[in-house]
Amino acid sequence: MKASIVTLPGDGVGPEVTSAAVAVLSAVADHYDHTFSFETQLIGGCAIDATGEPLPAATLDACKRADAVLLGAVGGPKWSDPNAAVRPEQGLLGLRAALGVYANLRPLEVHPALADLSPLKNDRLKDVDVLFVRELTGGAYFGAKTRTAEVATDECRYSVVEIERVVRRAFDLARGRRKYLTSVDKANVLETSRLWRSTVQRLSTEYPDVRVEHQLVDSMAMLLLTQPSRYDVVVTENLFGDILTDEAAALVGSLGLLPSASLGDGRVGLYEPIHGSAPDIAGQGIANPVGTILSAALLLRHSLDLDAEARSIENAVDWILHNGPRSRDLGGRAGTQDVVNAVLAAFEDQTGATDSFLRWGRANG
Ligand code: NAD
Ligand code: IPM
Ligand code: MN
Repeated sequence: MKASIVTLPGDGVGPEVTSAAVAVLSAVADHYDHTFSFETQLIGGCAIDATGEPLPAATLDACKRADAVLLGAVGGPKWSDPNAAVRPEQGLLGLRAALGVYANLRPLEVHPALADLSPLKNDRLKDVDVLFVRELTGGAYFGAKTRTAEVATDECRYSVVEIERVVRRAFDLARGRRKYLTSVDKANVLETSRLWRSTVQRLSTEYPDVRVEHQLVDSMAMLLLTQPSRYDVVVTENLFGDILTDEAAALVGSLGLLPSASLGDGRVGLYEPIHGSAPDIAGQGIANPVGTILSAALLLRHSLDLDAEARSIENAVDWILHNGPRSRDLGGRAGTQDVVNAVLAAFEDQTGATDSFLRWGRANG
């Protein structure tokens, strides 16, 4: 198949992890006889430096014309002055809104080989397999903002339509999994959360086969660490989802491992790792590319309908997480390129169906 992919490397480690994922996508294209074209555009701090705007019109146009968008990360100390008029993060929020990608899927599985990297005891980490569905285009992120010298406000606003579409997406995803949906809110305090909860309750009658539970966000923050294996699909609003998924990254050992897919009702999906621009390690060639490589796998699955190709990337990543090499955030010494080379080798090995890979596959399910 032919597909056009816009890449938005962005800032900090963004370019390093994006080129890693493009290398893997190119190997997939070669191997399976697809033609992927890549077009790079500016977003975030580098776009502010070049054009004065965090989301130039040329970038948005290219994204709207593409089959899918792959993003690295935006932001960094250079653009973080709290009094700055424009900020890199506005570019990312603007893109999410313009593409209408209201459902942000953040899957999380603990690899047994990495369990020792988590601060949690190993027995808590068995069978952890959670899919977070974070609302991505509403709430306090997008409400009216005001600021004077003395007072600032961020309006948190949700409409029934906004809640329904993301909750339906979560119910549908739960149907394809263990049929257990946890809706996280702060209904004991927030009016938006009460609307959220009553909308979930109403929709649940359409999904009698899915078990639904409501959890307040403060206790959820604790339960995620004490009983992570209990959860299947977790749906929540924008800000709660942002915070809970970084917390959940501690379960898998590193923020650098987690991918995401942002989907709406439109054609174009946006794919990005959940981590940021990691200014503390940018430019050193040591960022973990796995979260972005797995985001590329989600791109193949959700935007291009190439499930076998997506699986082959995920299998190759699984292989290197078990066998190494490992980047520094995982306690190893490998650089970004070493990890990419190993993923590419595991990918080729598996698609060539060598004995060793098949033996390993059988042993590891
Ligand atoms: P961060 O996610 O950039 O970094 C947090 C910690 O995780 C750092 O110690 C970093 O070194 C480490 N880390 C992150 N990604 C890693 C990787 N791939 N490999 C190894 N280690 C990794 O969060 P932050 O420091 O709070 O934010 C930095 C900037 O990134 C801010 O400007 C923020 O707004 C932005 N940000 C952007 C996105 C995005 O573009 N999607 C997401 C989150 C944060
Ligand atoms: C994320 C990031 C973004 C968010 C920032 C950079 C705007 O933290 O994708 O998780 O808060 O959504
Ligand atoms: Mn975040």
